[in-house]
Amino acid sequence: DNGTAAGVAPHPNGTAQRLPSIVIIGVRKGGTRALIEMLSLHSVVAAAENEVHFFDWESHFQKGLPWYLSQMPYARPGQLTVEKTPAYFTSSKVPRRLHQMNPDVKLLLILRDPTERVLSDYTQVFYNRLLKHKRHQPIEEVLVKDGEVNLGYKALNRSLYYVHMQNWLRYFPLGSIHVVDGDALIRDPFPEVKRVERFLQLPPQIDASNFYFNRTKGFYCLRDRGRERCLHDSKGRAHPQVAPEILHKLYRFFREPNRKFFELVGRTFDWN
Ligand code: A3P
Repeated sequence: DNGTAAGVAPHPNGTAQRLPSIVIIGVRKGGTRALIEMLSLHSVVAAAENEVHFFDWESHFQKGLPWYLSQMPYARPGQLTVEKTPAYFTSSKVPRRLHQMNPDVKLLLILRDPTERVLSDYTQVFYNRLLKHKRHQPIEEVLVKDGEVNLGYKALNRSLYYVHMQNWLRYFPLGSIHVVDGDALIRDPFPEVKRVERFLQLPPQIDASNFYFNRTKGFYCLRDRGRERCLHDSKGRAHPQVAPEILHKLYRFFREPNRKFFELVGRTFDWN
């Protein structure tokens, strides 16, 4: 026995790679990067740099837990490992797989107004295609087909939060899933991050002075031991203009799914 416990890969300087005890499961464009960066302000948190896509990508999942472990950051004793892969939330096979790894894992889910999230999702795909010199259909053609909300549009499905939440609640109790209000995190991140700190039972450490509003960026940025940084330019992009009647069609469309989600989590959100 070389002293290696299951699920731990030690390193000479006392740090070790550990499987995550906290996972940010989504939602895509909910503010997942902002959330993990803000949590990283806490000395107890060791965050994986990249999106790992272990539980949702077959080619990764087949490599097994040793591979997943190899993707984790080196953490000091007592630190908690966290990874974020926003695609987990909407992938139906992930809850069972994640539960199998650790039924006590703490899950963070950051959500935004579902219509706003669709526009953000569209904007991301738009820019990705632009980089590949490909054109993207105009937003209004994607959102509406024959006068009706286009149910075939994938981004719309990702905003049906109750559908995906039901899958998670088959495996995890509500108490294991903390929903972060992504709209509130944009407006005023500090109170939202404090709630996460409490949910994770971390010693209170994150402070109001860790956040400052950057006028140029139009968003809050972070102050970490005197060093200031904002998120990447790809975070906080302008969304396309959408005709008000189409927006209202979407607001109406999401009203019932939203209500179902509120019922599932026993809490309401200030969505359109
Ligand atoms: P937009 O770029 O559409 O505004 P994700 O990291 O999950 O992809 O989410 C991206 C979203 O995070 C951005 O969507 C932005 O609105 C939101 N966000 C929240 N707090 C932010 C911050 N402090 N700086 C930049 N973007 C932030």
